[in-house]
Amino acid sequence: MHLCRHFLLRLIRSIALLAIFSTAAHAAEKRDLIIDTDPGADDVVALLLALASPEELHIRAITTVAGNVRIDKTSRNARLAREWAAREEVPVYAGAGRPLVRPPIYAENIHGKEGLPGVDVHEPKKGLADGNAVQYLIDTLSKAEPHSITIAMLGPQTNLALALIQAPEITQGIKEVVVMGGAHFNGGNITPVAEFNLYADPDAAKVVLASGVKLTYVPLDVTHKVLTSDQRIQRIEGLNNHAGKLVSSILNEYVKADMVHYGLPGGPVHDASVIAWLLKPELFSGRLINVAIDSREGPGFGQTVADWYDTLGQPKNVFWIENGDAQGFFDLLTQRLARLK
Ligand code: BDR
Ligand code: CA
Repeated sequence: MHLCRHFLLRLIRSIALLAIFSTAAHAAEKRDLIIDTDPGADDVVALLLALASPEELHIRAITTVAGNVRIDKTSRNARLAREWAAREEVPVYAGAGRPLVRPPIYAENIHGKEGLPGVDVHEPKKGLADGNAVQYLIDTLSKAEPHSITIAMLGPQTNLALALIQAPEITQGIKEVVVMGGAHFNGGNITPVAEFNLYADPDAAKVVLASGVKLTYVPLDVTHKVLTSDQRIQRIEGLNNHAGKLVSSILNEYVKADMVHYGLPGGPVHDASVIAWLLKPELFSGRLINVAIDSREGPGFGQTVADWYDTLGQPKNVFWIENGDAQGFFDLLTQRLARLK
């Protein structure tokens, strides 16, 4: 009888400890994230996907940069995404209004004058956080637990480069940086060899690369394989919530130009693949390789020279994503958008 009671007590204690440990492990899996972005149609889809995923992602802030459109518009569009997701507690900091060295370029031909095709924009109720995105990055990353914060880079890498130039020691707070950018097998989308985010500010991308932080690139090689289809967009529209209506309207308009230009059966939703990689890495595959960035004037300007076959035997500095499960991506996006109002 005594033995039996003793055994029972031990069993209860073990179960309680297991519950505590598994909760702790689960909490530890939640990723501390800063999203640096230039919304942008696909940036807004990425933001909604991230904001609808609070179990996996603790979004500490959204920082904005000039890119697809001017900084005032990218900052407004980031705040719109936050409002649409009803996540007003997430601060939005505005950052660099132009690249490190070169004059700004915009992509209004793809994203429209307001940076958001297919939907009406308005001034969101909640404003920007006080302070600048670059200072926010410096303050947050220098005080963070060692290697604890992931940065999703969905636009030109100007903000993080400026932060690293001013305070190189902030790498201590960075767990990893996941970049939408670059192109190798696919070819470029702004020149035959360069992808827009790298071409817009290759000097910034070089600073980030040289900092030695853990880097993953989600280039056109994979985003041009993860394509919309009428059926995929209709499923999102069929969610019958506001988010589904918005995303389907944005995508219907956004994909047109790429489908015509590349003769593709659907369009890429580039930036959203960065968030999908963070949520479900098993949807993607890639390889650790050496990448160099060309910032010399000429036909190679903005190119990511990706040594996929290790021809030069140089140190491997980037995990380069090359393939993705398109249906898995759209299933994930649709499921997460269904959670929003
Ligand atoms: C990238 O460029 C921008 O236009 C998109 O938002 C994406 O980040 C694709 O080349
Ligand atoms: Ca972008």
